[in-house]
Amino acid sequence: MVWPAGVGGPPHDHGTWGVVSVVEGTVEVSQYELVGGASLRELATVEAGPGAVAHVLPPHEDWHRVRNVSSQHPALTLHTYGKDIVKNRVFDEATGKLGWIERRHTISS
Ligand SMILES: [Fe+2]
Repeated sequence: MVWPAGVGGPPHDHGTWGVVSVVEGTVEVSQYELVGGASLRELATVEAGPGAVAHVLPPHEDWHRVRNVSSQHPALTLHTYGKDIVKNRVFDEATGKLGWIERRHTISS
């Protein structure tokens, strides 16, 4: 995934195991715990640079967010998951509600 400067996603899960590594740039990764099935509690936030590897593993290590906090440089991350993810849960910080987001993976030649 390419993360343009200053771009990040909302907290979300994947519903399967995953391994993520940073190829270029630096990203901020926050991990969360789902509390009471309706809210998130932040567990930790780290900065990860090239060569850093992290995992997600439901049910307790799945919620996270990735942000490129650089104002100038894009970041590149490599993601491997245990299944084809067509939709996953996302936490809307504006409303404080959990929802679903559909993932569309496109392969172009
Ligand atoms: Fe993710």
